[in-house]
Amino acid sequence: MIRLKDVTKEYGKGSSAVIGLDDISLDIMQGKFTIILGQSGCGKSTLMNLIGAIDNVTKGTIIIDDKDITKMSRDSLAEFRNKHIGFIFQAFHLEPAYSVIDNVCLPLIISNVRRGAREKRGEEVLEILGLKDKIRAKAGNLSGGQKQRVAIARALVHNPDIILADEPTGNLDSKNGLEVMSILKKIADDGKTVIMVTHNLEYAKLGDVVITLKDGRIDSIVNNL
Ligand SMILES: Nc1ncnc2c1ncn2[C@@H]1O[C@H](COP(=O)(O)OP(=O)(O)OP(=O)(O)O)[C@@H](O)[C@H]1O
Ligand SMILES: [Mg+2]
Repeated sequence: MIRLKDVTKEYGKGSSAVIGLDDISLDIMQGKFTIILGQSGCGKSTLMNLIGAIDNVTKGTIIIDDKDITKMSRDSLAEFRNKHIGFIFQAFHLEPAYSVIDNVCLPLIISNVRRGAREKRGEEVLEILGLKDKIRAKAGNLSGGQKQRVAIARALVHNPDIILADEPTGNLDSKNGLEVMSILKKIADDGKTVIMVTHNLEYAKLGDVVITLKDGRIDSIVNNL
């Protein structure tokens, strides 16, 4: 369970401060597919970045698996992120000059996994994502759909229990978008907590829970379970 309690995020200080999230409390269920909707600027990415511990709250607490991540030191946070969180972004964020396998194995290098074990695990995930024949290809030479599947493989390679995907279908056509959706749904069906931001109401129907934000606050929560 991910529990946000009275979470506020302000960017900047004083009169020029911008509110990203405005005092929200929210529980996100473990092992389910949660979709975040809402207009541009409503705080979706802010929410993802706070849960993924790549940004700090201004006020409030975020409890993940009974640990308050807002109280952790920088080092413990980095370790926590490395162990528990996989990120997928709209713009893929791959290293275009690196091979597919090297991109996928990057999180394992950070965790000091040795080369043999790293590549074995990387190949395993790439096979699951239907990219076995692209292992040695340069990431920059792949199609958009393939790039996003590589990014999903990278997010899964260290076996995190939480996958955060911020508009992962935003740069994809509908065929590849749907494919990414079915992969994310399967990841949640396999027991991981998947949280995904989208603007696409059709994709949102696949979510177990759909949370709509408005002006930094929760507008509605629909439970499809
Ligand atoms: N680094 C930042 N510095 C200052 N303001 C920011 C920063 N990041 C976000 N904001 C502001 O916080 C609010 C929420 O932004 P956020 O990026 O979370 O929106 P979003 O819902 O993800 O929008 P989009 O759908 O366009 O991606 C906006 O008003 C935005 O301008
Ligand atoms: Mg955003």
